[in-house]
Amino acid sequence: MKRELNVYLCGNLAGTLYEDELLQLSFKYHHDDAIPILSVNLPVKADEYSHAYAYPFFENLSPEGEAFDILVKDHVSGNKIFSILDRFGGDCAGAVAFYETMPKDIDKTLHEISSAKLVQIIDKLPEDPLLSGLENPPRLSLAGAQSKFAVHKIEDKYYRSDDEHPTTHIIKITNKRFPNLLTNEFFCMRLAQIMNFDIPDVELKVTKDNAKNTRAYLEIQRFDRYIENGIVRRIHQEDFCQALGIVSDKKYQVGGGASLKDCCMVINKFSTNQLTDITRFMEWIIFNYLIGNTDAHAKNLSLLHTSAGIKLAPFYDLLSTEIYPEKIIDYNMAMLINGKGKYDSLKPKDFTALFEQLRLNPTNMMKILKSRFVNIIPLAENLRDNISDNAVCDNIIAIMKRRWDLLFG
Ligand SMILES: Nc1ncnc2c1ncn2[C@@H]1O[C@H](COP(=O)(O)OP(=O)(O)O)[C@@H](O)[C@H]1O
Ligand SMILES: [Mg+2]
Repeated sequence: MKRELNVYLCGNLAGTLYEDELLQLSFKYHHDDAIPILSVNLPVKADEYSHAYAYPFFENLSPEGEAFDILVKDHVSGNKIFSILDRFGGDCAGAVAFYETMPKDIDKTLHEISSAKLVQIIDKLPEDPLLSGLENPPRLSLAGAQSKFAVHKIEDKYYRSDDEHPTTHIIKITNKRFPNLLTNEFFCMRLAQIMNFDIPDVELKVTKDNAKNTRAYLEIQRFDRYIENGIVRRIHQEDFCQALGIVSDKKYQVGGGASLKDCCMVINKFSTNQLTDITRFMEWIIFNYLIGNTDAHAKNLSLLHTSAGIKLAPFYDLLSTEIYPEKIIDYNMAMLINGKGKYDSLKPKDFTALFEQLRLNPTNMMKILKSRFVNIIPLAENLRDNISDNAVCDNIIAIMKRRWDLLFG
């Protein structure tokens, strides 16, 4: 063995991640009653999990795209994923945390992030994705390609996360390539929330510094955290790539990745409330179709391991990709519907075929979904009126109207 890293779940030692001389990873549970398990794809067993099984789970905890490239350039020797988790894995998606040795004598002092500091962090983030250049950088890793970091928030103040203070909110910042991305995501997430989908609280904010220095950002409450007696605790979650045991590159179906049928299988097999979660999954598909979100892939869907059992997590990363021109965004859907890969080519019969393929009653499903989405346009228009700088909302509503008529009209 070359290196070892202790893997904690909900604050308890769950197992060890190993890197061998050939830079292959393996994982072994320490106990035979580890609850929650790391992943539905890694049930507890006495022997260790080899690279083929262990690697996808751990790989999916790392940032992706440009952020990943910057990280590995600056911080990596040996297995890239092992190194990222060693360096940044103190606070990840869900309840998993990585330590070589558990820190003793933890400093319990909270370190506030002032507005001026927040501006500084936001400005540095694109070149320094996990803020390693910061004085006392947080050990924090989140998947995805958008520039983001996370904070420990109490009342309306932000604090740097550390071993004692897990992050409670994700902060996403503007993206030069995709104008109005924050308003776009805020609008779609808030619309879904108004429609009573299970959605974390989202706020569109600006830093409170002087006017010249303000920066817009999206503040998203973490659904994998809760507060008990004033202490932030973690709830475990895993995304559908982890649940399927596939690496993040396979989050798109084209190229051999996850399909809607695969995701449906995960829900049927592992959810403690299959009926509700399958319906919610169908609603997620239709919502993404209506807003024009081609990026609805297997990492944008998660399972939450609650004390009452495993369920489909609240939805996140809902936004319209189709408001951007085709030359800067991929119009191919992350997962196919009845073998088709473009939303605009879909007809009601393709959804009927999908429901049949997933062994759902098409007539019932269509009826349930139509009544679920019957108010989406007026709700969206009303929401648009309460958002300043709302031209982007009009573009999304236009897509939505066209799609609603096509599917349900
Ligand atoms: N509200 C949330 N609570 C907990 N985890 C979240 C939340 N939103 C996103 N995540 C986790 O963070 C990851 C990245 O977030 P996401 O919004 O998908 O970013 P990106 O736009 O970069 O893909 C997700 O894959 C999920 O694991
Ligand atoms: Mg995402």
